[in-house]
Amino acid sequence: MSDQKNSDPIQMHPDEDSVFRIHTAAMREMEEPRDGISPTPVSYIITCFLYLLCGGFYMGYYGGTWKGDGLAERPIGGPAVVAPPQDPMKLGREIFNSCMQCHQESGLGVPGSYPPLAGSEYVLGDKRRLAAILMNGINGDFVVKGQTYNSKMPSWAMLEDEEIAAVATYVRNTWGNRADTMPIDLVKSVRKEVDGKGEWKSATLAEFAATAPPAAAVPPPGAPKK
Ligand code: HEC
Repeated sequence: MSDQKNSDPIQMHPDEDSVFRIHTAAMREMEEPRDGISPTPVSYIITCFLYLLCGGFYMGYYGGTWKGDGLAERPIGGPAVVAPPQDPMKLGREIFNSCMQCHQESGLGVPGSYPPLAGSEYVLGDKRRLAAILMNGINGDFVVKGQTYNSKMPSWAMLEDEEIAAVATYVRNTWGNRADTMPIDLVKSVRKEVDGKGEWKSATLAEFAATAPPAAAVPPPGAPKK
């Protein structure tokens, strides 16, 4: 600091001089760096706090469950999420659109050409036989409610098991028909049973209906479900 003495513009009496000069010098200078830890500026603390707050909010909001499988569609190793089964009557009504041109919306068919589904013994009777009809179709003389039909019923094997079961359930419970639901499992097992048997004739269908289903195909009533 001694070299500043000569350049100091303030001229004082030498007695006053030293105290004043020391103070002006001290005021002019920046604060001297000190040893040890200086206190953290408050503005810095506040900034950090705000960043943490924003970050915490973001992670809390978007972080999911904070588990490794938080974004997995189902818990890893947990049970598979199965699509809820469709209401068979609703699905069956949709599928029935394909049957209407022949069996009619009324379910009464067309006399002499297409047999009725309303009150039909084939619709309301043996479910296994009904599934077999839908799977392979019918060709030739066929008697329904005492009337003979001689036309062709197409196969519906291209439908899913669930769809065949649904349309069967639908025709069993419409136009005053009342019968229990067609199980999808039964359609599945009948599909295997009738594979390769071709279109039914009255006789072959009766023969099929008379044979006992494979033991595993239809569990007896009350058997524990797999
Ligand atoms: C192209 C016309 C046609 C279509 C479409 C059709 N069927 Fe048939 N269906 C027939 C005919 C014809 C018979 C009788 C068989 C014969 O004459 O050889 C029959 C017979 C049946 C029978 C057994 C006899 C009875 O009346 O109960 C059932 C059950 C049946 N159809 C259900 C269905 C269902 C369900 C659908 C739609 C998924 C369907 N059919 C679509 C023409 C059709």
